[in-house]
Amino acid sequence: MNTTKTLLSGIQPTGRMHLGNYFGAVQSWVTYQNDYNTFLFIADLHALTTKYMSPEGLRETKQSLLQDILACGVDPKKACVFFQSDVSMHAELHLLFSMMTPLPWLERVPTYKDKITAMQDHDLNTYGFLGYPLLQAADIALYQADVVPVGRDQLPHMELTREVIRRFNHLVQKPVFKEPEALLTSHDVLLGTDGRKMSKSYGNTIPMSDTPEQRSATVMSMVTDPNRIRKTDPGTPEVCPVFAYHRIFNTADRVSEIAAACRGAEIGCVACKRDCAAALNAHLAPIDERRLTWSSTDTLKDIAKDGAKRAILVAGESLAKAKKSLHL
Ligand code: TRP
Ligand code: SF4
Repeated sequence: MNTTKTLLSGIQPTGRMHLGNYFGAVQSWVTYQNDYNTFLFIADLHALTTKYMSPEGLRETKQSLLQDILACGVDPKKACVFFQSDVSMHAELHLLFSMMTPLPWLERVPTYKDKITAMQDHDLNTYGFLGYPLLQAADIALYQADVVPVGRDQLPHMELTREVIRRFNHLVQKPVFKEPEALLTSHDVLLGTDGRKMSKSYGNTIPMSDTPEQRSATVMSMVTDPNRIRKTDPGTPEVCPVFAYHRIFNTADRVSEIAAACRGAEIGCVACKRDCAAALNAHLAPIDERRLTWSSTDTLKDIAKDGAKRAILVAGESLAKAKKSLHL
């Protein structure tokens, strides 16, 4: 008996992958792929819900995201990696789900109104944007996923997914889809360069595909302890975003040394940042190296094609069951 559980997760191609995406999600995928029957996809249809007015560059963003995912250590021999729009079952199941989803269920999802407010410069008063979490429910249902690693912000989408699946199974009187569990990832392990959540909209990200030189320049421009104006001022490492990076990228011994030197005003912020940039670049060196091995566009296309082929086998079977249960 095969008791391997199925895990699925997706990432939107709204920009280049950054360190926050890596530590918040992709790094854990690299571990999960050994323990689960793993499906990982690039949610390009989801990206269109906000980028429909200016989709230029989407193809390039998707490709670079795929390259970064592989660079991080996701192995296409272990995990099935694909682009959402290559597997038409996602769109089709979304439509079937839309038949039976009460509008208030979608309207009350907190991310809906929040994002409309946050993205005033985009017209999100659309059918597709309201249906964002329903498309996500279809993504998950199609693979009969047991677990879905997501950040805390995605919990309302997981709840909706479970409700929609329950309703579907109830209406057709058959357990067509499996109710998934959220697997919480610690989302904010790595904050942005200003100490806030790392997000493209805050302009505080470090893209994975930056060169070591670019990354160093970004670290040198980071916010530090605001009360440490001169090198002779004793600092408080706990409030410094650079120190938070040291904790992740440096050895425990070095972290203690830096904390003491900062408190005692023995190290200047410039030297401290230089040390931080070196540690960060050393940490990312294996990823940089692997990225080079995935630099062929043709190879990336083949991997996505192969992933879609495997995904279609599973998604097609689920969709066929769903259609049959609806007398289609
Ligand atoms: N909404 C997710 C996010 O923004 C991306 C996503 C789309 C997803 N479909 C999914 C995540 C299915 C997990 C499972 O992060
Ligand atoms: Fe931050 Fe380092 Fe400056 Fe201390 S010395 S405030 S830890 S950058």
